[in-house]
Amino acid sequence: MLRWKSCYISFNDIKLWQWIVTGRVVGMKLRLIKGMRLVAATHNPGKVPEIKALLGGHYDVVTAGQLNLPEPEETETTFVGNALLKARHAADLSGEVALADDSGLSVAALDGAPGVFSARWAGPDKDFALAMQKVEERLEEVRSDDRRAWFTSALAVAWPNGPAVVVEGRLDGLLTFPPRGARGFGYDPLFIPEGYDQTFGELDPALKDSISHRALAFAKLKAALID
Ligand code: IMP
Repeated sequence: MLRWKSCYISFNDIKLWQWIVTGRVVGMKLRLIKGMRLVAATHNPGKVPEIKALLGGHYDVVTAGQLNLPEPEETETTFVGNALLKARHAADLSGEVALADDSGLSVAALDGAPGVFSARWAGPDKDFALAMQKVEERLEEVRSDDRRAWFTSALAVAWPNGPAVVVEGRLDGLLTFPPRGARGFGYDPLFIPEGYDQTFGELDPALKDSISHRALAFAKLKAALID
């Protein structure tokens, strides 16, 4: 992968020669032109308004689900890897520029778990009370008082059969038990962002949205591909 501005550009190996000449990316414009259509590599229509808003409302966003694209298996071991895999899959199958995200919670004392398995720890019923209990149990098992954790959001934009740009936003904080607050989703009630004393489950959602790992990732993506 090539580092460019604050993001990484990833290439399908075979195409590498097409995109790089003397170390410069050529032959295409890695820009998201306002008004263009973007395929969001998700089957969750609920994510569309959030993606549109984070991109400043300038794009026509359609989901992979609306295009009847199959969902790929998330086989990578990193957020960046899974975001790239999903964006490439959607772009190559649709023939349009695609955007994918991958996110989750990492706990320092658990060597970064649940990490890319954050959603899977909640089981098929998406039971996050269970997932949060699992985090607490694992911390008891390793007998650690270290409560440091971070949320990560990786965002990838892929061009059909071409390169992809990927960025990562990370927000550090501390875990607290028992979970606190009924706002937000997922692991929010466990997580106190650095500089605050309330969990994401307690804080104003608008505040969360302005400081979150996702906001940080979108800001990087905009700086790389839009501004
Ligand atoms: P993804 O949809 O595969 O990216 O999985 C993301 C999972 O990570 C979600 O199901 C949540 O469990 C967790 N997660 C990601 N972002 C947040 C957040 O902002 N708050 C709480 N949990 C989050």
